[in-house]
Amino acid sequence: MFSDKTILIGITGAIAAYKTCELIRLLKKHNANVKIVVTPNALNFVTKTTLETLSQNPINIEQFDIKNFKPEHIALTDESDIFIIAPISANTISKISHGICDNLLTSTFCAYKKPIIIAPCMNTNMWENPAIIQNLEVLKNRGIKIIEPDSGFLACDTQGKGRLADINIIFESAKELLLPSQILKNKKLVITAGGTKENIDPVRYIGNYSSGKMGIALADSAYKLGADVVLISTFEVSKPYKVIVTSDTENMYNSVKNEFKNANSLIMAAAVSDFKVKYKSEQKLKKNGSTITLELIENPDILFEMSKIKTNNQIVVGFCAESQNLLENAKTKILKKGCDYLCANDISNKEIGFSSDENEVYIINKNLEIQKINKDKKTIVAMKILERIYGRS
Ligand SMILES: Cc1cc2nc3c(=O)[nH]c(=O)nc-3n(C[C@H](O)[C@H](O)[C@H](O)COP(=O)(O)O)c2cc1C
Repeated sequence: MFSDKTILIGITGAIAAYKTCELIRLLKKHNANVKIVVTPNALNFVTKTTLETLSQNPINIEQFDIKNFKPEHIALTDESDIFIIAPISANTISKISHGICDNLLTSTFCAYKKPIIIAPCMNTNMWENPAIIQNLEVLKNRGIKIIEPDSGFLACDTQGKGRLADINIIFESAKELLLPSQILKNKKLVITAGGTKENIDPVRYIGNYSSGKMGIALADSAYKLGADVVLISTFEVSKPYKVIVTSDTENMYNSVKNEFKNANSLIMAAAVSDFKVKYKSEQKLKKNGSTITLELIENPDILFEMSKIKTNNQIVVGFCAESQNLLENAKTKILKKGCDYLCANDISNKEIGFSSDENEVYIINKNLEIQKINKDKKTIVAMKILERIYGRS
């Protein structure tokens, strides 16, 4: 779940520090890279060895232990995606709400611009202290997510509010802040990727330069947004969602038709061949000193056929790669194909398109309205395409 995320855990001198060990284990179980920064007082409650063993990273304590000429509190802010301070003591709450930076944890807080979660834990009287109430209010108004403590039996042998919130609640909050919202939950999306191969004989084929990167990026992004993804690809790829490998256009057409029947949407990102060889040779063609002629016939037009059979509740998205007159050609194409959206990209620009890791796309809808998605990594462009078409804009 968190395989591409680094989570910075802050621990202060509060009795529930031992519970943070469970949080670290939970995050590790979900593949997060966990880094830890502690106040010196935190080490009265939990040991360096325990934290290093659980996180599999060296822990950060000293502000002036500078590696690679970069102050540690700045390095920690750059390297992580979210900062969770759990437990946070009354003392540290008060310091950070006033901008005090007297140790590595408080300095890191002050320099941190990404999402922050704090989970206080303290004796009930401390929790009810007007200074603490006011300091927490300040932090809340500055956009810090505060996970309030639970009520119950406290370590100081009293009953009341002050126990560190359940670790699973802290985990769920991190998930909410880090992962995109599940706008495609309960939706089945069929996505094609790659370039089809039309066989000439058993060893040769007519292909194209499509790398499949855009289709894969769309499938990965749709999966992150909660979709039930079926990727129909022209090459093998190992993914946590269903992958069907096809080779030629006819093959892909049959798989798409089959999967699209009960899907909510189809995104045709594969580069399919318009033509196939009429008479494929069963045996490898041999040179015999003369020319050979390949007769080509049209392949099924998958985008056109699926747009024709789609119901009003299904969305069909096509892709087109043009080397000239991008928008005019794209507008003509969407009308001809009858799909709901067409994503057009300019393959004459070598920095984007086919094998590149970047793309720039124009999304055209049936009313010929155009939205541009600026040049960026294909993974980011993919997420933006899905958000524009299926939900948030
Ligand atoms: C046994 C013991 C348990 C403590 N538990 C807490 C606690 O749960 N919450 C809290 O805010 N302070 C607690 N304190 C007080 C803090 O450790 C103390 O305020 C310390 O200065 C916090 O330092 P730090 O915020 O730099 O980590 C405890 C102190 C002791 C001796």
